[in-house]
Amino acid sequence: MQKTIKHMIAQASECLKNSYSPYSQFAVGACIRTVDNNYFCGTNVENISYGLTVCAETSAITQMISQGYQEIAEIVILSSQQKLCPPCGACRQRILEFASSQTIVHLCNTHEIFGSYPAETLLPNAFTPKSLERETP
Ligand code: THU
Repeated sequence: MQKTIKHMIAQASECLKNSYSPYSQFAVGACIRTVDNNYFCGTNVENISYGLTVCAETSAITQMISQGYQEIAEIVILSSQQKLCPPCGACRQRILEFASSQTIVHLCNTHEIFGSYPAETLLPNAFTPKSLERETP
């Protein structure tokens, strides 16, 4: 496995130890590498009002933006269950906001990559800035 991915898996695994997930007992970790080679991690934060839960990917994006970075080169997502943890629809849209055609999403566990996908393929027919463009009169 590539050294960078190993590093990102280690970071995401470390981060998910801080997961606040008393309701689902499902801890998720995410690690972003930006195009300028900075790393940002996040984990899921649940709430007794379940719909207020924040996903790990969203946590990581929030960290990245807060530190002044915006361009995701790749992101690793893994869970405490060691099995595939596909990003939810809302997180796919949020990843896409800071993705390019080069951005890769790696779905992993602590010792393997289940699959690596271009971010733009994970949300076909996504709502993008192009969708807001008006017809010229
Ligand atoms: N979860 C994430 O953190 N990311 C996802 O993309 C899917 C789901 C979390 C939310 C919740 O805390 C737990 O997994 C079970 O749904």
